[in-house]
Amino acid sequence: MIHEDEESRLARPVRTATTRSVLMCRPEHFTVVYRINPWMDPQLPTDTSLAVRQWEELYRTYLGLGFEVQLIDPIEGLPDMVYAANGGFVIDNIAYGASFTYPERQPEGPAYMGWFGDHGFDVAVPESVNEGEGDFLLVGETILAGTGFRSTSTSHGELGRLYGREVISLNLVDPSFYHLDTALAVLDSTPGQEHIAYLPGAFDAAGLVILRERYPDAIIVNDEDAAVLGLNSFSDGLNVVIASRAADFGRQLREHGYNPIGVDLSELLLGGGGVKCCTLELRR
Ligand code: ARG
Repeated sequence: MIHEDEESRLARPVRTATTRSVLMCRPEHFTVVYRINPWMDPQLPTDTSLAVRQWEELYRTYLGLGFEVQLIDPIEGLPDMVYAANGGFVIDNIAYGASFTYPERQPEGPAYMGWFGDHGFDVAVPESVNEGEGDFLLVGETILAGTGFRSTSTSHGELGRLYGREVISLNLVDPSFYHLDTALAVLDSTPGQEHIAYLPGAFDAAGLVILRERYPDAIIVNDEDAAVLGLNSFSDGLNVVIASRAADFGRQLREHGYNPIGVDLSELLLGGGGVKCCTLELRR
């Protein structure tokens, strides 16, 4: 006879970690002085040194997982530059540059493109407004692309032509989940065993049809965990770095054979970002 926990252990899929290479930006100039998403309130105080300490915990966590972590110099006057995910989208050594929606962040586009060019990537200067990996996520050989608040649907077409991959457009409908990476997490990107997690309320009916059909075994995250940007997480296929407050998401991840690692980025949440926002994957 098999014991119950033995049974659940046997049912649990085996997950494997693939070492990642990422780009990050230390939040030395982080603050909230403008409001371009509902999380931001310039009236609320921010603590830059606490933001740096919390960010360093994320940085050390990645190093501990064996990741190669590169750093771009923060620029004074660009408080949102810490959210490196928005700096571009990188596959096959090609960096598709970002072109930001709001003037406050526009100078970040050239800053990140400069870094990519200096570090051996082929830079594709964007024609369309897009916020990089904030809205574009590679799942297997498919690029899931968000639109509705930031990246335009014309950027989705540009992406498809650039990388020769299938691009699936998803409409975001909840202003609190304005980037795709706040509403959907890629847990396993290995072709043939793609696995994601998402918040259904962030998508329109057409998007939900696509997500349910393509990813029938996806983890559905509850509103409470989404409200601490729990989905804004980064997975290496086994280890999933998440907001420490996203308790139920952590439980679900363990059930699915992952190793959730919680970090507290409460200060950066004041700017409307979390773990994934601070992380840009570099795929060579
Ligand atoms: N304050 C930033 C903005 O609104 C936060 C960006 C979060 N980044 C992300 N990848 N979701 O643009």
